[in-house]
Amino acid sequence: MNHLLKLGDLSEKEILSILNLADQLKYEKKHNIEHHYLKGKTLGMIFAKSSTRTRVSFEVGMYDLGGSALFLSNANTQLGRGEPVEDTARVLSRYLDGIMIRTFDQSEVETFAKYGSIPIINGLTDYAHPCQVLADLMTIREIKNTFKGMKMTFIGDGNNMANSLIVGGLKVGMEVAVACPKDYKPDSDILKWAETTGKFTLTEDIYEAAENADVLYTDVWASMGEESEAEVRKKVFKGYQINSDLMKAAKPDAIVLHCLPAHRGEEITADVFEAHADEIFEEAENRLHAQKAVMVKLMRDYA
Ligand code: CP
Ligand code: NVA
Repeated sequence: MNHLLKLGDLSEKEILSILNLADQLKYEKKHNIEHHYLKGKTLGMIFAKSSTRTRVSFEVGMYDLGGSALFLSNANTQLGRGEPVEDTARVLSRYLDGIMIRTFDQSEVETFAKYGSIPIINGLTDYAHPCQVLADLMTIREIKNTFKGMKMTFIGDGNNMANSLIVGGLKVGMEVAVACPKDYKPDSDILKWAETTGKFTLTEDIYEAAENADVLYTDVWASMGEESEAEVRKKVFKGYQINSDLMKAAKPDAIVLHCLPAHRGEEITADVFEAHADEIFEEAENRLHAQKAVMVKLMRDYA
């Protein structure tokens, strides 16, 4: 594993190995055990979109690991003024030990990996959000103890979160169901692959998808970059909501996850959100531990 561009590039074994290390790093942090596995290393963090969790967890993560992180906004780097990715990647590779990128096109992250000579981590694109899903899987395993026999249901837009949850969930052996409006399906290649697993369902019916679920997951109706579609999407997605009625279709001990930020009253009701706040904020915390594991795996032995 040289980069983390999308979960499709990882085997089940690699995913589980990241999760195991994440558990270890969480334990070490909680017990104040020094874990400076990236002493003297520097991570560049390129952001073309907003972020709270990703930015803070990567920056704190590098600090915890004995290294440092640089925040590079597109608003004030030459990349944001059109300097080619190919050139930026080769320049930054000479200063840094790893790069995390949050941007629009998945191809930009792939180009960074192609032209750079250091590990590249996808911190969210329109296509995928692998770091979030590693934290989600960590949280599910922490609460449910296993992925075996678990069913995860995603309700809402077939966006970056849906794409990565389908891949991550199926790779670790869960059953995955997605309910979305017909014109807002996840990526077609991911769907094609998902169908070969025999453990995947795609439907427009949220109750069918949520039936017997162990994990219910949702995300915003309009993602970053889709702000102009927000009003149209509010109409299309009406009903694609996790609420107390839908919870009845899931298992009685079902957990609820949300990558955040959440829009109460849209994809999730305030009462369900608050009833499951412990799970949702543990999930947010786990971003830190899971990403530290990714950075250690990618950057530790990097010469
Ligand atoms: N879930 C997530 O990636 O949050 P941020 O947009 O705040 O980084
Ligand atoms: N689908 C959302 C996820 C935010 C973490 C977006 O891309 O804006």
